[in-house]
Amino acid sequence: MIENNNIESIKESSQLCDEFGTNPIPNSLKVTDCNGFAMIPGFVDCHTHLLWDGDRSDEMHLRQLGHSYIDIAKMGGGISKTVKATRNASVPRLSQLGESRLNRAINFGTTTMECKSGYGLSTESELKLLSIIHSLNSQAPVDLHATWLGAHDFPFDKLKKQYMDELLSEQLPKIIDQGIAKWADVFCEPGWYDLEQTEEIVRAAADNNLPSRIHVDEFVNSEGLALAAELGCVSGDHVGYSSDDARSKANNAGCMQTFLPGTPYILGKELNLPLKNCIENDWAFSLASDFNPNYNSQSIPFVGSLATHRLGVSPLEALVAVTRNPATTLFDNNAHDTPGTIRVGGPADMLIINSKEIDGWCQYPGDNPVLKTISKGTIVKS
Ligand code: NIG
Ligand code: FE
Repeated sequence: MIENNNIESIKESSQLCDEFGTNPIPNSLKVTDCNGFAMIPGFVDCHTHLLWDGDRSDEMHLRQLGHSYIDIAKMGGGISKTVKATRNASVPRLSQLGESRLNRAINFGTTTMECKSGYGLSTESELKLLSIIHSLNSQAPVDLHATWLGAHDFPFDKLKKQYMDELLSEQLPKIIDQGIAKWADVFCEPGWYDLEQTEEIVRAAADNNLPSRIHVDEFVNSEGLALAAELGCVSGDHVGYSSDDARSKANNAGCMQTFLPGTPYILGKELNLPLKNCIENDWAFSLASDFNPNYNSQSIPFVGSLATHRLGVSPLEALVAVTRNPATTLFDNNAHDTPGTIRVGGPADMLIINSKEIDGWCQYPGDNPVLKTISKGTIVKS
C-alpha cells in the first residue's frame, strides 16, 4: 500500500483483499497487478555526468589505433572537446538534452540520480550547468542530486594556477552562496588533478560544509582512495587500481567505494574490478553508470550484467550496490526519505521487472528488464 508517496504497508494480497474487499474494489484504491513479476527498489545511480553536448564517437577508432585516454585528451579530444561543445550550447538545448536523458534513465529504472557539472570549466558555465540540473530536478518525476565538478580538467584557455585560484576563490564561494550543489568532486588522476590539488579543493569545500565524492585511481593507483578516506569523502569513485590497504581504510572511514565497470568496458580494458574481494572482506561498495560523453549508457541493468556475468558477484549483491548502498552516500544517515530499499515508511520508488525472480534484474544485457518504474508512488514508466 502506497500513500502520500510512501510505502504505507506491505502485506500478502489475500490480507489486503480481506481488509478492503475486492468486489467492487473501493474507489479510493488504485490497484496495480504485478502478475507475479518481481518487484525491486528503484535504482540509485550515484555517478553520472548528465549534462553535456557534442559527440565523441570518433574516439573509439582512435583507441583501436592504440591511443590511450590521456593521448586522446592531448590530441584535443576527451573532456576538452566536450567542454567546447557544451560551452557553445544554449540553456534550452542543454535542458532538452537533460530531459531526454532523464527519460532514458527512467526507462531503465533509475529513480534517484546524482548529476555532475564539469563540462563548463569556467565559473559562468559551471553555474549554468548546475542551475539547469536544479530546474530539471524541480520538473522531473525522479530525484536529482547535484555535484560541482569544476575540477574535472584544466580548461584550455587558462593557466593551471590561474584556474586553481578561480576554483577556490570564485567558483566554490558562488556554489556555496547559491546552495546549488550537495558535493564537490575532483578528477584526481595523474595528468589531471594531483593529490595536493585534490586535497586543497576537498578541504576548502569541507570548510564550507560541502562534502566531497571524488574520481580516484581510475587508470593507476595514485593513492587517491586513501586520500578520499583520510579527507572524509563520502565516496571514492572508479577505484579500479586502489590498494587493499586503501580499500580497508575507506571502509573504516565510511567512504564508499564506487565501481564504474562501464568505463573499463568501453575503454577496451580488462574487466577485473575486485568486487568479490570487497565482498570477502566485508567492504561496502556501490556500482554506478558513469554516464558521460565517452560512455553513452544510462542502463543500470547493464552495469548489473557486467557485475554478475563478468565480475562474479551475485544478482542480489549487485542489486544492493545499485540501490541501498549508493543511497547511503546521497542522503543523511537514516533520513526517513532515503530510497534504495522497499520498507514500510520509505519512499515508494520501485520497479516491476520482466522476471518472476529478483535475480532477473541484471540478466538482460543489451535489453531492458524494467516493465514499470514507480517513483514516489507514481508510475512514471509503464
Ligand atoms: O568518470 N574520468 C573522468 N571523467 C569521466 C569521463 C569524462 C570524459 O571522458 O568526458 C569518467 O569516466
Ligand atoms: Fe565520472
